[in-house]
Amino acid sequence: MKAYAQDLAYIHDTGFTGFARKAAPGLLRILRQSGIRGGLVVDAGCGSGVWARDLSERGYGVLGIDISDSMIWLARRQAPDAKFRTGSFLEIQLPPCDAVTAIGECVNYAFDRKSGKRALARFFRRVHHALRPGGIFIFDIVEPGQVLGSTPQRRFLEGPDWAILLEVREDRKRKILTRRIVSFRQVGKLFRRSEEMHRLHLYSGSELLVELDRAGFQAQSFNGYGRFRLAPAHAAIVARKAGQIS
Ligand SMILES: C[S@@+](CC[C@H](N)C(=O)[O-])C[C@H]1O[C@@H](n2cnc3c(N)ncnc32)[C@H](O)[C@@H]1O
Repeated sequence: MKAYAQDLAYIHDTGFTGFARKAAPGLLRILRQSGIRGGLVVDAGCGSGVWARDLSERGYGVLGIDISDSMIWLARRQAPDAKFRTGSFLEIQLPPCDAVTAIGECVNYAFDRKSGKRALARFFRRVHHALRPGGIFIFDIVEPGQVLGSTPQRRFLEGPDWAILLEVREDRKRKILTRRIVSFRQVGKLFRRSEEMHRLHLYSGSELLVELDRAGFQAQSFNGYGRFRLAPAHAAIVARKAGQIS
């Protein structure tokens, strides 16, 4: 499965980083309220590095991880003071850190063949182990109920030098969301066509709260980050490791 190859990574960066920008003030507030005013934040599924840049401009150390090397290429330019690694956060070793974030449905994606609820539960345990006492894990998910009825949703989206045709299907039984993304990016006078198929596992907030509890976290689900509200059938989750941040 292609995962944000060159053109879609570019389109994400120019047209779809509004989510990270709008989430940032609420995320920073959660970090500060948890006593985390510095130290290392691991951003899992960092994309093109918009949130990593915000963090490093505020004095946090950042390690961004993304499975797409095109996203990492953009992120290194966006946030030159942060460190980045290409690979799956389900596999890459996590360093000791103060916070872990995964913003924009990252934990839902099935790009890694090992993805799924068991792999995610294992990831939660690894995050818990990596966090210092009092550390925090913040992420958001897309839940079942995205496509009502059996007809796929079709939409088109456009920017000054790109366009996207999007077809979304939901397999309610298998709890899988499929996004077929046909993209056109302007290269010189012509538009280059590419196509990616993204599969996402759909989880409910409540089932992940159970897994987080099993991993040792105290977790709560919210409908947004601060004043920024998520779309319906999405949840933001804040999970804390017991202890005091030092
Ligand atoms: C919707 S994008 C969000 C990117 C970024 N967090 C933002 O808000 O702009 C989801 C990101 O998660 C990454 N991703 C998905 N599964 C991953 C995995 N197992 N390991 C690392 N990155 C992953 C994708 O490559 C993509 O960059």
